[in-house]
Amino acid sequence: MPVSARQARYLDALGVARYARRVAGEGMPDKSAVAPTLATVEEAPQPFRAPADMTQPAAPAPVTAMAVNRNVPGANTATDWPGLIAQIAACTACGLSRTRTKTVPGIGDRQADWLIIGEAPGADEDASGEPFVGRAGKLLDAMLRAVGLNRQRGVYITNIVKCRPPNNRDPAPDEAAACAGYLERQIALIEPKLILAVGKVAAHNLLGTQEPMSQLRGKVWRWRGTDLPVVVTYHPAYLLRSPLEKRKSWDDLCLAQDVYRKRAAESA
Ligand code: URA
Ligand code: SF4
Repeated sequence: MPVSARQARYLDALGVARYARRVAGEGMPDKSAVAPTLATVEEAPQPFRAPADMTQPAAPAPVTAMAVNRNVPGANTATDWPGLIAQIAACTACGLSRTRTKTVPGIGDRQADWLIIGEAPGADEDASGEPFVGRAGKLLDAMLRAVGLNRQRGVYITNIVKCRPPNNRDPAPDEAAACAGYLERQIALIEPKLILAVGKVAAHNLLGTQEPMSQLRGKVWRWRGTDLPVVVTYHPAYLLRSPLEKRKSWDDLCLAQDVYRKRAAESA
């Protein structure tokens, strides 16, 4: 099946147009060319139901770095953006604080409808304090542009942990847990309409599951029992290593866009 014009433009932007045309021309099966419809979205399973819920009352204790890091949804509700950024900058709640150069709290529109969540800062991010500035970041920008978004408008970008793990290893569970309160506070402040989890590590931590990407993609998940939808796609660093998968990431963005439009229409 030939690729659609929009998908072809997307693949062009991601530098795989020639490959895509060759594959289409060779008549390989192309399951990925069909974007999920709204009906698929409505019928999509919502497998995750965490016991906790964001409507839990705020912790009564004064807001301290410790209070932030108890992994309680809705904790630390007293903190505004400047307070939150300052807390992250001073945070020593996990071992990553010992090796980081700069904390990387996140960047973008603080009233964004789309919240993009990656895994952890890498070397470029650790040096600059901004998420997704390296090669993977350039690819993420191209993916976002394809659905009319950019990091100045409509999008906020952050990570599961705000400090770089040494040698770019995956963040450990205790590090992700220590950092979760900051992400929860960001979600509460931004009130996004959609979370796009990029990569397995982000998805596993957000959804509390260990399922493989094949099970995580193509479904509409919910964040901690709220009605906030989570869509999972490949990490751009993975797409740089496995360019053939770029085609499938288009399906994920179409699904995310469908879910977003539906939610935006509901709340209009
Ligand atoms: N990879 C991520 O997951 N996050 C970044 O900020 C950069 C690379
Ligand atoms: Fe604090 Fe998160 Fe950095 Fe750990 S990764 S030191 S919890 S900001």
